[in-house]
Amino acid sequence: MLPTLRAPMFSSLGLHISLTVALLVIFPTLIFILFKLYPYAQKTLSSFAIAAFFLRHGPNGFLLLREKLGKGEETFRIGKYNLVVFNLDIIKHCLVQKAHNYDKGGRAARLMGEVVGPLGILGALDEDDHVPSHQVLNPHTKRADRIETFESMVLEEGERKLDEWRSLTTGARKTEVNLYIDLNEIFFRVLYRFMFGIDLSRKRFQHVHGIISQLERYSAVVGFVPAKLLPVYKLLRRDVASLVVALNKEVESIIEEGAEDSPLHELKEPSAGVSPVQLRDTVKNLLFAGATTAANALGWAVHCVSKEAIWAKRASEAARQGNITFFKNVCQEANRVYPQANVVTRRAKEDDYVPGYGPIAKGSILVIPIIALHRHPRYYPEAPHAFNPDRWLDQRPPPLMSYIPFTAGPRQCIGQSLFNRAGPPLLMRLHGSFDFYPLEAEPKPKWPNAVLPPRSGGFRMIITPSSL
Ligand code: HEM
Ligand SMILES: *[C@@H]1O[C@H](CO)[C@@H](O)[C@H](O)[C@H]1NC(C)=O
Repeated sequence: MLPTLRAPMFSSLGLHISLTVALLVIFPTLIFILFKLYPYAQKTLSSFAIAAFFLRHGPNGFLLLREKLGKGEETFRIGKYNLVVFNLDIIKHCLVQKAHNYDKGGRAARLMGEVVGPLGILGALDEDDHVPSHQVLNPHTKRADRIETFESMVLEEGERKLDEWRSLTTGARKTEVNLYIDLNEIFFRVLYRFMFGIDLSRKRFQHVHGIISQLERYSAVVGFVPAKLLPVYKLLRRDVASLVVALNKEVESIIEEGAEDSPLHELKEPSAGVSPVQLRDTVKNLLFAGATTAANALGWAVHCVSKEAIWAKRASEAARQGNITFFKNVCQEANRVYPQANVVTRRAKEDDYVPGYGPIAKGSILVIPIIALHRHPRYYPEAPHAFNPDRWLDQRPPPLMSYIPFTAGPRQCIGQSLFNRAGPPLLMRLHGSFDFYPLEAEPKPKWPNAVLPPRSGGFRMIITPSSL
C-alpha cells in the first residue's frame, strides 16, 4: 500500500543472493583462514599483550606476573622459551654451579649484543670470545694497587667537579646542577684514564655519553618488540645506524690513542690472544659497562638520601665524622633498589636438570629479573620497595643469590671491587661538601633500558655549600 515498502521488497532478492553467496563461499573461506591463522594470531597477540603489560608496569611487572601467571611460585613462563626465575637455587645453578651449560644467548640478548658488541668481554656469547679479554682486564680490577689507583682517580675527578660547583655557588650560594650528567662525566673521565690512558674532554664526553645513553635505551627496547614488528621498528629507528657508526668511530680513535701503560695497550699485545674484532667489541663493552653503571647507581644514592630529611641529616653527620659505614650501606641499598643491570638472561646450551626443581630444556632462556628479585617480599620482608640503608645494619644478610647487583659466577662484573672501593668515599665527599635538594620528588627509572638512568633525563638538584 505504501510505495516506500516496495523498494525493500525488490532489493530483498539481492540481499538473499548475497546472503547465500556469503554463507556458502565467503564465510567458510574466512573461517578456514581464521582457523589456519589462529595460532599465529594468538602468539602475536600474546607477545603484544606482554609488551603492553611491561610498558604499563615497568620492571615491577615481573612481581605482578609472578602472582598472576606463577600463582606465587618462584618460576613462571612467558611464551615457549622464557622461564622467569625468582628461585634462588636455579639462579645459583645457572650463574655459578653449572655456568658452563649456560651462555648469553637468546633473542633479546642477541639483539642487545648486536648494538653493545657481540664478541667482547661483556657481550660474548661464550667463553672463546670472553676469556682472552677477561684474562687481561680482570687483574686490573682485582689487584690492590689497581683498585687504589681507581679510587684515587674517582676522588680526583670528584674533587674537580666539586671545584666547579664551588665556583658556581660563590656569591649566589646556591645553584642548580644535573647530577646525572655530572656523575656520568666523572665516571667516563675515570674510565678513559683508567682503562685507556686518555684524558677525556668535556666535548668528547658529551658526544660519547649521548651515543651510549641512546643505545642503552634502544638495545633493551628492541628485545621487547614482537618479532613480526621488528622490521617496522627498525625502519622507524633508522637513526640507530648512525649512532652505531659514531660509536665505532669513537672506538677506533680510542684504540689508536690508547696509552702505552694502559690495560688497553695490554689487550693489543699479540701475546694476549685478543683478535682485532674482540678488541673492538671489548672497548665498546667497556663504554657500556664501566661508567653509566657506577654513575647512575650513585645518582640514585644521592637522590634517595637527599629527598628524605632523616637520611640527609645522617649523611651530613656521617660525612663530618668520616663514618664510611653509612655510605657503604647507602651504596649497597642503591644497588638493591636500582640495580643497574636490571634484568639478565642465560640460555641453556643442553638439556639440564636442577635438583629440587626439575628439568630445563635445551634452548630455554632463564630470565633473572634482578630488580624484581631485589624487591621480592620473601627475601626483603620489610618494606621491600623502600630505600633504607639501615637494613644493612642487620647482622643477617639476605639469602644467598637474592642480592646480585653484579651477578655471580664466571660472567659476573669485574668492576665490583672498583665500585665498592670508590663509591662510598665519593659519596662522603659529595655530602660533606654540599647539601642537595632534588627538584623532582619521585623520578622513575627509564625502563626498558640496559641500565637505570632517571627517566626524566636528570637528577636535577639545587645545591648549597654544606652548612657544617
Ligand atoms: C654499580 C656499578 C656496577 C654494576 C651494578 C655493574 C653490574 C654488572 C653486571 C650485573 C654484570 C654482569 C652482566 C651479566 O651477568 O650478564 C657486569 C659485567 C661487567 N661489568 Fe659491571 N657493573 C658496575 C660497574 C662496573 C665498572 C665500574 C666497570 C669497569 C670499570 C664494570 C665493568 C664490567 C665488565 C667488563 C663486565 C663484563 C665482565 C665479564 O663478562 O667478564 N662494571 N657488570
Ligand atoms: C657509623 O655509621 C653506622 C651506619 O649508619 C652506624 O651504625 C654507626 O653507629 C656509626 N658510627 C659512629 C661511630 O657513629
